[in-house]
Amino acid sequence: MNQTTKPEAVTHPRTVEQIVVGRATSDGAGVKLTRVLTQSLQQRLDPFLMLDVFKSDNPDDYIAGFPDHPHRGFETITYMLAGRMRHRDSAGHEGLLQSGDVQWMTAGRGVIHSEIPEQESGVMEGFQLWLNLPARHKMITPWYRDIRSANIPRYVTPEGVSVGVIAGSSNGVTGAVVRDETEPIYLDIDLPAGSSFSTSLPAMHNAFIYVYRGKVQVGEKAVEAGHMAIFANVPGSDGISLAAPESARVILVSGQPLGEPIVQYGPFVMNTQIEIDQAINDFRKGHFADTNV
Ligand code: FE2
Repeated sequence: MNQTTKPEAVTHPRTVEQIVVGRATSDGAGVKLTRVLTQSLQQRLDPFLMLDVFKSDNPDDYIAGFPDHPHRGFETITYMLAGRMRHRDSAGHEGLLQSGDVQWMTAGRGVIHSEIPEQESGVMEGFQLWLNLPARHKMITPWYRDIRSANIPRYVTPEGVSVGVIAGSSNGVTGAVVRDETEPIYLDIDLPAGSSFSTSLPAMHNAFIYVYRGKVQVGEKAVEAGHMAIFANVPGSDGISLAAPESARVILVSGQPLGEPIVQYGPFVMNTQIEIDQAINDFRKGHFADTNV
């Protein structure tokens, strides 16, 4: 499945506008994680609502997982770098997410689900990204797909950079999931020491990288492991360029902003407070567990 692809030339790469360091927190039944994309960045990084990074080899940090909880109004994309997580939801979906797999869940009008580690030791590492839905799709039927690692389209550049295309397209390779409205691109990029990489991006799409191994250079700016770099939306820019002074691994995420109001109450993300009140009501009445709502 790996193909060799020469990246298209990027002549006006974007600059880094801001470096963000994640905030340690816990969620679910006490899972320790780092929230990198927090609520204060939701407008800036529209259509993305949240990015959590989890990484631990201490089972106490993850073993309790995320017991039953609801979502409405957006999509959750879980990318497991290492570990095993069992998912079950009220729409009748069940799956086991293993190292390298991606789970794409559209909560739409509402699901209740659980995400529970299926291991008692070893490393658990990965990301959960929240992608907003446009107003007219917030109440669609829930949807779910497990994407096995082997089914994620990949390419390798002549410099040996290996790219997994989870969503959108990059250098002519189309990813596992394509969305028309927000046009998300989600890449996992593995850069050998001394290599560089570029990919084109629409100038007005919001975009960031998160470095999870090593260090990359974006123009003059060094971006260290554990840091997110938000790219400036520079008119006339045609993409991003990264250089790796040492070997590095990075996720790149970009998308077309929706430009709609964002109102979040915990696991519900809607456009108005009235819709949030409705979500809370529907959840209390048990409507999320009813697949025929
Ligand atoms: Fe969840």
